[in-house]
Amino acid sequence: MAPAFEAQGGAPPPQAEPVQEQAAAAASQNNAHFSNYESKVTIVGSGNWGSVASKLIASNTLRLSSFHDEVRMWVFEEILPSGEKLTDVINSTNENVKYLPGIKLGKNVVADPDLENAVKDANMLVFVTPHQFMEGICRKLVGKINGDVQAISLIKGMEVKMEGPCMISSLISEQLGINCCVLMGANIANEIATEKFSEATVGYRENREIAEKWVQLFSTPYFLVTAVQDVEGVELCGTLKNVVALAAGFVDGLEMGNNTKAAIMRIGLREMKAFSKLLFSSVKDTTFFESCGVADLITTCLGGRNRKVAEAFAKNGGKRSFDKLEAEMLQGQKLQGVSTAREVYEVLGHRGWLELFPLFATVHEICIGRLPPSAIVEHSERKPRFELLDGSTQYC
Ligand SMILES: NC(=O)c1ccc[n+]([C@@H]2O[C@H](COP(=O)([O-])OP(=O)(O)OC[C@H]3O[C@@H](n4cnc5c(N)ncnc54)[C@H](O)[C@@H]3O)[C@@H](O)[C@H]2O)c1
Repeated sequence: MAPAFEAQGGAPPPQAEPVQEQAAAAASQNNAHFSNYESKVTIVGSGNWGSVASKLIASNTLRLSSFHDEVRMWVFEEILPSGEKLTDVINSTNENVKYLPGIKLGKNVVADPDLENAVKDANMLVFVTPHQFMEGICRKLVGKINGDVQAISLIKGMEVKMEGPCMISSLISEQLGINCCVLMGANIANEIATEKFSEATVGYRENREIAEKWVQLFSTPYFLVTAVQDVEGVELCGTLKNVVALAAGFVDGLEMGNNTKAAIMRIGLREMKAFSKLLFSSVKDTTFFESCGVADLITTCLGGRNRKVAEAFAKNGGKRSFDKLEAEMLQGQKLQGVSTAREVYEVLGHRGWLELFPLFATVHEICIGRLPPSAIVEHSERKPRFELLDGSTQYC
């Protein structure tokens, strides 16, 4: 894989590529074995999207002989207002009454509150928790998983470390020494739960056969999955669109209309592409036209929770914090956009790129109250100064 960071001559690459390469090499050694026996799937996470993912997966493990029927789902245990444990209720009713009420997950889904026990026999791990919990989860899993495990991350977000930004798939690969694909797309969970048609994109590193296995595991007649060889591009699309969705929500809250919102989405897409390509020169332009790119951006800016809460934030003139609004409006679900905006801002500040990304920078400054919501149009319309970089046109 080419080193990512060509534009800033001499700056360190943002991710530890050798670890990923080792993981990929181990994965290809395991691959023959992997494709020849029944794969056992565990889902790590059980929120709104985690529960829908378990429904998709459970229908396929029953149907396809290459998978073991049972699907384990690790649940962060909670006591419900009724006094019952969430895992007990899921196992007796087959429904995640807190995060996906009214939808049967499949009788072959087994909720397990013990993380170590949930992963112990699995050789396919699906990670789907809010991104802020992943570092702790990985720490608990070190040394606890099988050597021949393959992973996929459905998580949107990144960690910012001293050495640079770390995508969640890289965190998983580096901490657990396993290969990790990603699945992202225009996927508002509640719509897929009721089997409305949508599409998704699997991003893989080298091994097409493993990508195909993930495609098989997730695909249904109403959920069409395609694979592209661009882990970073797919994952960054899924991560960055939440920042643009906040901008779209501000515009909605200020009742600025559809033209303004479309302009903000276009500027946001341009910044998503430029940021991704600056971090990883391997990111492909075509990825932005897949479900994970423009389609996810559109659905998130029209219907997602980040847009909804940002709209309320702007309607309140920025006087009620995102934390308060999240607690009031989302019933335990987590916003990803606000923390991603902060993480992106840290990267921009650290690398001297703030002037290149006026929309990303402004979204964070609005979120922390440094600028009013109306600044979204005043600041985003500034022309990014790509001439500060060598070979500027390739990023636009
Ligand atoms: N919901 C969607 O429509 C959707 C669609 C695509 C991708 N995603 C992504 O999927 C990921 C998971 O989102 P979700 O919608 O399944 O979750 P969610 O926001 O609905 O639920 C939050 C989850 O976090 C768990 N949790 C709370 N505290 C925790 C802790 N300390 N440690 C571990 N877990 C804890 C809760 O039990 C719950 O399962 C996110 O990265 C999100 O961006 C969501």
